[in-house]
Amino acid sequence: MSSKEVQVGIAGMGYSVPDQVIDNHYFTRFVETSDEWIVQRTGIKERRWLEPGEKPSDLFTAAAKMALEKSQVAAEDVDLIIVCTVSGDHQGTPASACIVQDNLGAKKAAAFDLQAACAGFLYGLQVGSQFLKSGTYQNVLVIGGECLSRMSDIYDRNSVIIFGDGAGAALLQPHDVCKQGLIEDITIGADGSGAQFITRPRGGGLERLTPEILSEGTHLIRMQGREVYRFAVSRMTSLMKWAMEGQDPEELSLVVPHQVNRRILETATEKLGFPEEKVFINIDRYGNTSAGSVPIAMCEAIEADLFEKDKLVVIAAFGSGLTWGAARIRW
Ligand code: UT7
Repeated sequence: MSSKEVQVGIAGMGYSVPDQVIDNHYFTRFVETSDEWIVQRTGIKERRWLEPGEKPSDLFTAAAKMALEKSQVAAEDVDLIIVCTVSGDHQGTPASACIVQDNLGAKKAAAFDLQAACAGFLYGLQVGSQFLKSGTYQNVLVIGGECLSRMSDIYDRNSVIIFGDGAGAALLQPHDVCKQGLIEDITIGADGSGAQFITRPRGGGLERLTPEILSEGTHLIRMQGREVYRFAVSRMTSLMKWAMEGQDPEELSLVVPHQVNRRILETATEKLGFPEEKVFINIDRYGNTSAGSVPIAMCEAIEADLFEKDKLVVIAAFGSGLTWGAARIRW
């Protein structure tokens, strides 16, 4: 182990979304809603959903492959794979990270899943960074992705319209090696007193899954949208404020927030005085992809050449748990 503090960088990123596009009109077949309501209240115009037979691990693997290609690192050199998800291929076991490890042929990599819902990617960056800082590993793959379409209740208009499927990935390396994407500071946190706000109430370890639970649909996501909304505005504001505390606003290249709801993002960023063009939003096309949201948006921002070299990128997310996280990255 080196005595010098290892700084962590993002060597390369990748993402993957399903081909199937679900527009807002689709939901009118199942619940009383409209394209107008959904666009106005959330900013979402369409989202991507996996088709029957496609797997969440397909998305995680495709995102990881792209991140490795961008980093020019071979799968055999990956030391650790962390898949941040609450909607992997299997309930609990086996971890999707193990399936991804096999798909990639990353034979020497340890692999585990991490559950922090929409803040998952931030948690993954923080946890993955520790293995680099300690000198244990050199190449850590952090994948954030979800397939919440399969855990949503098509008859619950409060929640089903929000979620999209997708995944993003980042390869972390010592900054000395990759010389880009320096993670200058990162924070994660939780408040379990809000656990009931977004939950799959039944069908977990509390009891055996019964036909009654299945017919009620209480094994699917239930969300108290208003409570989450209130929490979201104040938490997103404080996270972004934390990330830019003491920094020159001129140094800010882009804010890439969790794509939760256009109104939440506009309120939070307006409060902080961030100009509109400094806030990346793609919720109109993908909806809320939970742990996939921030890395997918980062990839699209990179493709659009929106990260200025040596300037700051702020990422922030919050989600079920309640959990949250933010990071300041010097690109
Ligand atoms: O990643 C973290 C996870 N989730 C979130 O961050 C979600 C945060 N919350 C939100 O984005 C918003 O609260 C929602 C988009 C979920 C809901 O928007 P809202 O403006 O907060 O609506 P509301 O829940 O206060 O409901 C207003 C009305 C209600 O009708 P009544 O009781 O006033 O008659 C709802 O039943 O809108 C109704 N409503 C709908 N109407 C048409 C709720 N969902 C729909 C819908 N279509 N899909």
